Amino acid sequence: MKNLLEDIKKLSAQITEEVIQVRRHLHAHPELSYQEYETCAYVKKQLQALGLETFSVANTGLVAEIKGKNPEKKTIALRADMDALPIVEANQVEYASKNPGVMHACGHDVHTSSLLGTAKILHLLRNEWEGTVRLLFQPGEEKNPGGASYMIRDGALNNPQPKSIIGQHVFPLLPVGKIGFREGMYMASCDEIYLTVRGKGGHGAAPEFTIDPVVIASHIIIALQQIISRNASPKQPTVLTFGKIEGGTTTNVIPNEVKIAGTFRAMDETWRADALHKIKKMAEGIAESMGGSCEVDISKGYPFLKNDPQVTRRIKAAAAAYVGENNVVDIDITLGAEDFSYYSQVIPASFYRLGTRNEAKGITSYVHTPTFNIDEEALKISTGLMAWMAIHELSI
Ligand code: NI
Repeated sequence: MKNLLEDIKKLSAQITEEVIQVRRHLHAHPELSYQEYETCAYVKKQLQALGLETFSVANTGLVAEIKGKNPEKKTIALRADMDALPIVEANQVEYASKNPGVMHACGHDVHTSSLLGTAKILHLLRNEWEGTVRLLFQPGEEKNPGGASYMIRDGALNNPQPKSIIGQHVFPLLPVGKIGFREGMYMASCDEIYLTVRGKGGHGAAPEFTIDPVVIASHIIIALQQIISRNASPKQPTVLTFGKIEGGTTTNVIPNEVKIAGTFRAMDETWRADALHKIKKMAEGIAESMGGSCEVDISKGYPFLKNDPQVTRRIKAAAAAYVGENNVVDIDITLGAEDFSYYSQVIPASFYRLGTRNEAKGITSYVHTPTFNIDEEALKISTGLMAWMAIHELSI
């Protein structure tokens, strides 16, 4: 295996320039969730150039397989997401978005180009390892219900079911060169809460003739926080944030209705179901007790993500061999959400972080911002690293 590791490193260095060009092409041509038609066609062309057969899934998603020696021995899966965000890019780079208002601000261009590079390495070395590596290029990570759920629906994890799945994500909090891992609970479930509080509008100086939805909405917002502070176990991370409140027109008119929208995050499916039920009951009950009504609309998002401890330990050990023990770090949980969690509910899964920060180069912006970018040095590491992890995982 030692020689193989060196071969992977050599190939990874050889293809870095090409992978960077692929990343820049994708970055310049971002597409929104579930509209990744050109991205998908581009990825398909790249895979076919390697001689790989591709299968269309989830409308704008792709699956391909690389077979090593003895391909029936074991199958594992590697995943990349391909969609971009509705953000106007502010980076002044030659490869900035050519699609106004759409930007690869979450690094999915990096994940896709990196996995294409990994595919090339695995393909070139296919006589040196045993088993099958399935590649998943998925749409719609950024938008409910999550492209991963469609990939699974369309059989991306069937025939045969992979023994494990690995995914990576850029991490602007981690310096380039470092790779972050976490065993067990890692990311939160994420549901969208939409409340419409209805009352009866009227003159602000004559509240006795009205049912004031602004006051009712205020009570609801405060009261719902009690669910987090009094009903949730203090040992379980959970959060409820209302980021939007909308109602009324001026100082002295009581409106008919107020709309509130928020996000609920949790890391336990039982608590999640319980909390969503409580949110609905409490909002409705408060509005009713004050003479109004509240319509509760909940859009269920991704489940929480638990990294399989064994897979995580194995890929972490593989990473330590590849980038050195001192470049492998443990990372904290985050209440962010990822649709990779859907795969983790079907098969053992692990999601790790690729350091992309470089203070000296001024690359520090967080994901989902107009100035997000990565230090492309990360692509020197990521392609070979994932190839090595895959081969390591197949050899167990
Ligand atoms: Ni992302």
